[in-house]
Amino acid sequence: MSPARIFGIAILVLAALIGIAAIVVNELREPPAVSGAVSKSSSVAIGGPFELVNQEGKRVTDADFRGQFMLIYFGYTYCPDVCPTELQDIASVMDDLGEEATKVTPVFITIDPARDGQEEVRAYVEAFHPRMVGLTGSEQQIAEVTKAYRVYYGKAPGGTGDDYLMDHSNFIYLMGPDGGNVAIFNGRTPYEEIAAGVREAVEQG
Ligand code: NI
Repeated sequence: MSPARIFGIAILVLAALIGIAAIVVNELREPPAVSGAVSKSSSVAIGGPFELVNQEGKRVTDADFRGQFMLIYFGYTYCPDVCPTELQDIASVMDDLGEEATKVTPVFITIDPARDGQEEVRAYVEAFHPRMVGLTGSEQQIAEVTKAYRVYYGKAPGGTGDDYLMDHSNFIYLMGPDGGNVAIFNGRTPYEEIAAGVREAVEQG
């Protein structure tokens, strides 16, 4: 392994630890906003402006989602196990919400823009939920949105060329109609618990 590679991995690990520490510190400071959530992030800003491209090839920004709750997941279409499970959970949350689901937009944002173009993202989100929005962008745009959401991601060691896995953090972000973060759910939370938390938030407005 080259020194550059080791340095790169060390930076990614450090970024992940800082992210986790921020969430843990925040959790100690604040009770969860809604049931099932790991954190309410009022003191650590999560989210913010972004500019990306949706599955129809249209430029979208965070402002386009104002007035809606967003349930955001960061992953990649080539993910063998975790991402499909999480997106299926989000689809189940949407179904569980019934009428309230009209106030929530499920959003998938790729952390692998090199392989996940508009077409890949479209085919992927269509497989999970008819209202799921899929977002991709340039490497720079993805770097910016993941930074805003404190998302850790990076190529896993051992891949070659276009054949590789990505390491990435596993959280589901609930954003409010004003664009602010309402809650963060650990990806491993059963979907029924996430649905209960989202329902509480939606009913509170
Ligand atoms: Ni994944």
